[in-house]
Amino acid sequence: QTHDLVIRHARAVTASDIFHCDIGISDGRITTLGQRLPAGTQEIDAAGRFVTPGGIDSHVHLDQPTGDGSVMADDFASGSRSAACGGTTTLIPFACQQKGGSLRDAVEDYHRRAGTDKALVDYAFHMIITDPTPAVLNEELPRLIQEGYSSFKLYMSYAALMLNDRQILDVLALARREHAMVMLHAENHDCIGWLTEQLLAAGLTAPRFHAASRPRLIEREAAHRAISLAELVDVPILLVHVSAGETIEQIRWAQGKGLNVYGETCPQYLFLTRESLGLGDDFEGAKCICSPPPRDKGSQEAVWRGLANGTFSVFSSDHAPFRFAGADGKRAHGDNPGFHQVANGIPGVETRMALLWSEGVCRRRITPQRFVELTATNAAKLYGLYPRKGSIAVGADADLVIWDQDKKVTVTNEMLHHNVDYTPYEGMELSAWPAMTLSRGEVVWDGSPRGTPGRGQFLRCDRPLLPGADDSDRGYTDYAPLFDR
Ligand code: URP
Ligand code: ZN
Ligand code: ZN
Ligand code: ZN
Repeated sequence: QTHDLVIRHARAVTASDIFHCDIGISDGRITTLGQRLPAGTQEIDAAGRFVTPGGIDSHVHLDQPTGDGSVMADDFASGSRSAACGGTTTLIPFACQQKGGSLRDAVEDYHRRAGTDKALVDYAFHMIITDPTPAVLNEELPRLIQEGYSSFKLYMSYAALMLNDRQILDVLALARREHAMVMLHAENHDCIGWLTEQLLAAGLTAPRFHAASRPRLIEREAAHRAISLAELVDVPILLVHVSAGETIEQIRWAQGKGLNVYGETCPQYLFLTRESLGLGDDFEGAKCICSPPPRDKGSQEAVWRGLANGTFSVFSSDHAPFRFAGADGKRAHGDNPGFHQVANGIPGVETRMALLWSEGVCRRRITPQRFVELTATNAAKLYGLYPRKGSIAVGADADLVIWDQDKKVTVTNEMLHHNVDYTPYEGMELSAWPAMTLSRGEVVWDGSPRGTPGRGQFLRCDRPLLPGADDSDRGYTDYAPLFDR
């Protein structure tokens, strides 16, 4: 019973504890946590450094068809390699239904895109539901949820993706019946459309006007509406990529009422501002066009507070990889397109963990335990991967990060392993980076990417396990009288 691998002298961090131990690993799982374990077949000396669970990036876009001529620069090969090099060992990208198409087809197509020779780390799928027909709601979705696709994202904006409130209610009711997790992209579509029209009529087309077309209140309004729809149906929801204090207030208000409303935020809302979209008419700012847009210093502070005080449950990257050069990324609509024609999204799957460890943990804005909760444990629970993923515990997969903390790292795109030609964090000075990433006991990063593409496994997701809720009913009450309230 010699361990395949023993990691010596780890300062192990979970969502609740920090403890000094050796970690014994066999067959890709953690089998022993203890002191002075007998020699393993292989040994790694953590030398007292922090060891955290491998990151779960539960909001990434890889090789997702866009329908507007732009192409995502990262597929499962480059996306998962980049993830591993940044300490992330589980990815959850999106299988997106085409309007008029079947959800089953979307999932099967996405499995073909994931391939069998691409993924370096493990992955599950969320689905994006764009067309909740009776066949989707009554037949496809219940089966897919059963088969391991237990979460899906709904859009309240983007013409090609959005649902109206009534369609959202249909999907929420289904999620309640089947115990699935619904993620919502909350922005008021009509407000964006109206403001965009005003800006274009005034000739204001530079990247920075993307932010002007999406002021904070349009996110606040949609978030409030999403919360109300979820309250009506009495079902948990998670609001994705929350950018500002106004929306955080809505989430806190809902949580204060006892509603299971969860929030996700992303690095761009901590480290970028609307000034990142440029001050003049330069197209350079298109690199930071994403939705919701980065806000201001006050919003950044509000997001830090929400991370520290528990309002947020998940910190993901929303990695949306579009190249700046060439004609199939940010410039798919010409060399100098208007803000409204620029593909939305910024890359960040590799920088997510180090940004939060360096600027959050090292600067004492959050504890190491909170870091683990935000980058791994809560996503594992919400998306039905816990306790296999998201913890350092006997029986869990040996997905681990050993952290270098003495290191000074200047972020450059050159050091990253994605296939995008820029990083919004170019030049940032960080005080931490993963020294080593292990996926199921196998080293996938030790200063270079390691391991064979294709070793990453598809993960079937169980039903959500909700943090803070009673595990016996997994946070769902049996049919409360919907019509009494
Ligand atoms: O601008 C963004 N966030 N693009 C990615 C797609 C999405 O809405 O998450
Ligand atoms: Zn020791
Ligand atoms: Zn979104
Ligand atoms: Zn996204």
